Amino acid sequence: MAHDSIVITDNRTNQTYTLPVKQGTIRAMDLRQIKTGPDDFGLMTYDPAFMNTASCRSSVTFIDGERGILRYRGYPIEVLAEHCTFLEVAYLLLFGELPTESELKNWVHEITHHTMLHETTKKFMEGFRHEAHPMAMLVSTIAALSTVYPQAREIHDAENRLLQIKRLIGKMPSIAAMSYRHSLGFPYVYPDNDLTYTENFMNMLWKMVEPKYVANPVLARALDILFILHADHEQNCSANVMRSVGSSQADPYLSTAAAAAALSGPLHGGANEEVLKMLDEIGSKENVPAYVKKVKEGHGKLMGFGHRVYKNYDPRAKIIKWTAEQVFEVTGRNRRLDIALELERIALEDEYFIQRKLYPNVDFYSGIIYQAMGFRPEMFTVLFAIPRTAGWLAQWQELLNDSDQKIARPRQIYTGHDVREFVPMTKRASMEVNAG
Ligand code: SDX
Repeated sequence: MAHDSIVITDNRTNQTYTLPVKQGTIRAMDLRQIKTGPDDFGLMTYDPAFMNTASCRSSVTFIDGERGILRYRGYPIEVLAEHCTFLEVAYLLLFGELPTESELKNWVHEITHHTMLHETTKKFMEGFRHEAHPMAMLVSTIAALSTVYPQAREIHDAENRLLQIKRLIGKMPSIAAMSYRHSLGFPYVYPDNDLTYTENFMNMLWKMVEPKYVANPVLARALDILFILHADHEQNCSANVMRSVGSSQADPYLSTAAAAAALSGPLHGGANEEVLKMLDEIGSKENVPAYVKKVKEGHGKLMGFGHRVYKNYDPRAKIIKWTAEQVFEVTGRNRRLDIALELERIALEDEYFIQRKLYPNVDFYSGIIYQAMGFRPEMFTVLFAIPRTAGWLAQWQELLNDSDQKIARPRQIYTGHDVREFVPMTKRASMEVNAG
């Protein structure tokens, strides 16, 4: 009997089955042969929220949650954050190797020359109310780009795919900045090709009447590091959506819009905005113990704490904490950082959080930094979506090149009615009466 296999005995039939084990998994389809009789559909797995299901094979990102390890294409996140720019890391995620100097120069040139948006986008953006959430504006506008580039539907053409990928990476900061300026009623700022990716983003956000925007280099580098840390995270909720929508062969704009919609949820990318609300609700260091007590009694969660995979400190949080110190050197400390540090200190000593392996995640400090840099809380998830677009597109490309993949369509356990007689209108009792 092969060592890489398991034997299952079905006590319902006394049949035994040998299933091969590959890369720590069994193929779910191998369970379908386990039946109680010829009419039996066969066994399936039941795994709500995919807690223990591998949906794909991927070589993009590796996470070891127990040991707090995160690597993009084999390179530790700490090394990339220290030595690379975000566009260099985006290249690594998409092409699998770090670029040479000339490859990087060409890549930066290409992305820089795809930052402009079609002028109709301004009219589209004008349709939003000023108080519209920037994340909703971003999601809608990414989808709208599908109307500007209909050839994006040619998803089997590798060259065409690469052109759309460059457009999406180049235009995300422009759309994000437009949604921010729209919410403030400020005129839009066009890209400045003399600036780096993050400097240009700051330019499109914050340039007012000065002839040329000059970005603070410490803040521009901090943003670059934050973009690197947020670039990908294997099969998280939004990456799963990118793959699921992409598996129907939707174009990359509509797939990316769907992924960004998933990221907007407060349990995923929206957590950094919730962290700031939580810190403001706590109000002072002195109030932290009372707040922690409330959470332990089951009233709410510590936003920015916990993770589905990391049952150790999120390696990104450590780097973000260091980056926060660099930013506060420029912007000055604020009380939110002091409250956050006290919250972290108490939570890391408290058995409730230790037992549940709840540590600060990537969102815990990012919101404080963004706020200190001058971003409004509703922009935080937008700042997450910009770099994560590179990760989503790397996952999307991998999906399209994976011969194992086809349109995503999970099964279910049906819990509804068995077949029943139709009820004519005159015989129907209203639900209220039934509920009565
Ligand atoms: C991101 O997947 C990714 O990679 C995501 C991400 C990425 O880069 O894409 O890393 C980005 O989304 C980070 C997570 C941001 N979200 C938050 O910070 C929101 C607060 N965190 C939680 O909602 C929660 O920790 C999750 C959603 C992140 C993870 O939830 P799990 O793994 O499904 O854990 P769970 O909900 O089953 O909780 C296990 C226990 C429960 O207690 P018991 O029922 O066992 O008593 O831990 C408790 C939970 O109540 N718990 C928390 C908690 N998170 C979990 N208690 C207090 N505060 C928290 N934050």
